[in-house]
This record gives sequence, C-alpha cells and structure tokens, in this order.
Amino acid sequence: MGYKVAVVGATGNVGREMLDILAERGFPADEVVALASRRSVGTEVSFGDKTLKIKALENYDFSDTDICLMSAGGDVSKEWSPKIGRQGCVVIDNSSAFRYDSDVPLIVPEVNADAVKGFTKKNIIANPNCSTAQLVVALKPLHDLATIKRVVVATYQSVSGAGKDAMDELFSQTRAVFVSDPVEAKKFPKRIAFNVIPHIDVFMEDGYTKEEWKVMVETKKILDPKIKLTCTAVRVPVFISHSEAVNVEFEKPITVEEATEALRAAPGVLVVDKREPGGYITPYEAAGEDATYVSRIREDATVENGLSFWCVSDNLRKGAALNAVQIAEVLVNRKLLLPKSQKAA
Ligand SMILES: NC(=O)c1ccc[n+]([C@@H]2O[C@H](COP(=O)([O-])OP(=O)(O)OC[C@H]3O[C@@H](n4cnc5c(N)ncnc54)[C@H](OP(=O)(O)O)[C@@H]3O)[C@@H](O)[C@H]2O)c1
Repeated sequence: MGYKVAVVGATGNVGREMLDILAERGFPADEVVALASRRSVGTEVSFGDKTLKIKALENYDFSDTDICLMSAGGDVSKEWSPKIGRQGCVVIDNSSAFRYDSDVPLIVPEVNADAVKGFTKKNIIANPNCSTAQLVVALKPLHDLATIKRVVVATYQSVSGAGKDAMDELFSQTRAVFVSDPVEAKKFPKRIAFNVIPHIDVFMEDGYTKEEWKVMVETKKILDPKIKLTCTAVRVPVFISHSEAVNVEFEKPITVEEATEALRAAPGVLVVDKREPGGYITPYEAAGEDATYVSRIREDATVENGLSFWCVSDNLRKGAALNAVQIAEVLVNRKLLLPKSQKAA
C-alpha cells in the first residue's frame, strides 16, 4: 500500500512540474490528487499518462492524505499549511511562509537531509527559494573542503520564477516589440523584454530586496550560520533556469583542481567547464534538467583563498518541484512517514 499525495497549486508552473516529477521518478503513491483555487475546478492536468481533474483546496479534507506538496504562494500556505499539518498530513511548502520558523526544517536533500526529522513539530517542511537551492548544492562540497567565509553572488533569474503570468508577460512584450505594439508591464515593475531588472520581491529598509535577503538567511539556515553572504538578485528575459555568478572566500587554501574534483563528486552537481567558446552551461540548456551545473571555475587572486564560478539550474525543478519531491523521498526512504492506509490496515 502506497501513499496518498495532494499537489496544491497543480495548475501553476511549479505544481505542474511536481506532477511530472512524481510520475517520472515513480514516487510510491497509490493516489495523487490535484488541487487549486475554485477558479480551476474541473480543469485537467497531466500526471504521467493520466489526466487529473482539479479539485478545490477549500473543500478538501486532508485526513486520509499523507503528503501535501504545497505550491500556491505564501498567503495560501500561511492559511492552509498549519491546518493540513494538524490533520496528520505532512506539508512540503514551496513558499517562504515557514522557511524561517525554527520549528520548520528548511531542506535541500543533498545538503542537510538529516534535518528533515524535525518536521514532526508542525508537520511542515520548507523548500528554499529557487536561487538558494542551486547555490547551496554547489557550495556544500566546497564548504566541506575548505570552509567558506564569505560569498558574493549575483543572480540572473528567469521569469518563470515569478509564476505563469510572468512567463506570459515576457512572451507578449517580446511579441509587442516585434510588431511595434505598445509594451505593457503588469507583473514586473519595468519592461522585461530585451531588458534586465535589478529588483525581485519587495525592498527592505537597508536597501536590499527580500529576494536577496532570502538567499542570505536561507544559506545560513541550510549550510552554516557562520557564512557571510551578500546577494544582488536580477530578473532577466529568460523563460526557465536561474544563473548565478558566485565568488567565494575560504578559510583554507583550495585550488581550482581540488574544487572541480569535489564538485564532480558531489550529488546533484554536474561540472561542464571547458575553457573554450561554448564550454559552459547556459540557462537554455539547463531547462528541463535535474542537475545544478557548475562552469567557469577559476581562482580569484584578488583575495586570499578565493574562487569564482558560474552556476545554472532549472528553477522550476531543482529550485522548486524536484527539491520538494526529493524531500518527500527522504521521508519515505528513511521510513519517517508510513502511509496512513498501511497504519489503518
Ligand atoms: N517558480 C519558481 O521558480 C518557484 C521556486 C520556488 C518557489 N516557488 C513558489 O511556489 C509557489 C507557486 O509558484 P508558481 O510559479 O507555480 O506560481 P503560479 O504559476 O502563479 O501558480 C500558482 C498556483 O497557485 C494556485 N492558487 C492560487 N491561489 C489559490 C488559492 N486561493 N487556493 C488554491 N490554490 C491557489 C493557482 O491556482 P489557480 O490556477 O486556480 O489560480 C496555481 O495553481 C509560490 O509560493 C512561489 O513563491 C516558485
């Protein structure tokens, strides 16, 4: 007897990807239920070779559901995740609503899978921000090798990170430019087509944006609170995959060869680093892939023990849906959660 899994936000970018990944990886589910807002009731979504009809979250009873993959934004999560958790269903939440709660583990399985066991306090596990997920996957083997002191990261984030309406906006603005129609900006504060915007999420008092703050705070919670990190988060006119230019200062000496070897051996990382035209990964090539790609590894001779690299990953997969499904797999493989149907039998 397998698990009953609900996907909340199943019509969205991340929710659809979650359904694909559950099917691709053969997650041991007897039943998968697709939930979204009342607006989408009856809409069909694909799950492997089946189609599922969307049901409304607001009418759904989670008492016989084991795992809820929640991907419907922070407000929905704040209202629903605690209620669902109290019904004995473990919520794996993609929003930022619970990431900074000390009673909620924030997990990237390649980095801190052992911390999952703290989920029982609230029956909620948080998935990190998409930029944090790929960053910590790449930083972990380097931190193990030479202890990271400080990280400076600039992100180049695709529009899919802002949801399906944001992808439509890039498409319609691009079309408008080509046919000389007026370019309308609704989802983004400025035009995104043929442009870049150094602003993601709200501004904070110190001048950083919330997105930049999230990368800093989440890296500390997942990897090591002693790491200092500063971030500039930028939206770019790319549909899928986030890229990051990363500069790291270490406590101990580390060569490019040692770093490359550690990254090659690390789970979830693929190194593509030929020092020639095209010998690196771009977001277009990472879309639809599971790996976090690392390219352009080089020494930064301006500081002691410094390295720079380029890191690319599919934000809808490792940055969201894949990471959530991997967390569910940790619960299953470590026998931290038994199916309710099995307990009742
Ligand atoms: N995109 C990324 O790279 C990424 C990465 C990490 C985390 N996340 C997080 O994942 C979440 C979803 O992102 P997304 O990109 O998939 O957004 P999206 O494409 O805009 O989809 C939003 C989903 O939430 C559902 N929803 C909205 N209001 C709801 C309600 N009141 N009750 C039930 N369902 C409701 C929508 O259903 P309807 O179609 O019925 O409106 C839709 O299925 C967000 O919290 C986001 O911050 C996204």
